[in-house]
Amino acid sequence: MKEIILFLHIVFASLWIGGMLFMAIVLSPYVKKLPLSTKIFQEVGRRYSIVGTVIGLPILFITGVLNAVNITGMEFTVLLNSSLEYATTLKEKLMFFLLTVILAVFHDFYLGPKANLSQKIKLITRIVGVINLIIGLIIIFLAVKLRFGGV
Ligand code: HEM
Repeated sequence: MKEIILFLHIVFASLWIGGMLFMAIVLSPYVKKLPLSTKIFQEVGRRYSIVGTVIGLPILFITGVLNAVNITGMEFTVLLNSSLEYATTLKEKLMFFLLTVILAVFHDFYLGPKANLSQKIKLITRIVGVINLIIGLIIIFLAVKLRFGGV
C-alpha cells in the first residue's frame, strides 16, 4: 500500500510540475503569437486548474501526509512538533505547499478569468504563474532532500 501512495504522489507531482513547465516552455511561446492568445490561455488554464489545482493539490497533501507517516513510522502531529532534520525539511515543504495552494487559487480563480480585461492583469497573472512554477521546483528540491533524510 505504501508503494501505491508514493506512486500516486509522484504521478500527481509530475502532473502539477509537468503541466506548469509545459505551459511555460512549450505552449506559451507559441500561443503568445496568436490573436486569441488570452482566450486560449483561459481555456487551457481552466482545464488544467481542475486536474492540477482542484484534484491534484488535495491528493498531493493527503498522499504526502501518508508518505511521511509510512516512511518515518511516526504520527504526523509528532513529526510536526519534532526538530529532526527530516521533520524540519518536511515543515519547509509544507510551508511552500501552503504558499503554492494560495497562489494557485488566486491565479486560477481570480486573476485568470480577469486576464482579458487589461494588460496589467494579464502581466500579473503571468508573473504569479511563473512564481508558482519556481515554488513547485523548490518543493521538488525539498522532496529530493527528504529522500536523503532531510539533510
Ligand atoms: C506541489 C506539491 C508537491 C510536490 C510537487 C511533491 C513532490 C514530491 C516528489 C517528486 C516526491 C518523490 C521524492 C522521492 O521520494 O524521492 C515526493 C515525496 C514525498 N513528499 Fe511530496 N510533493 C508535494 C507535496 C507534499 C506535501 C504537501 C507533503 C506533506 C504533507 C509531502 C510529503 C512528501 C513525503 C514525506 C515524501 C517522501 C520523501 C522521502 O523519500 O522520504 N509532499 N514529493
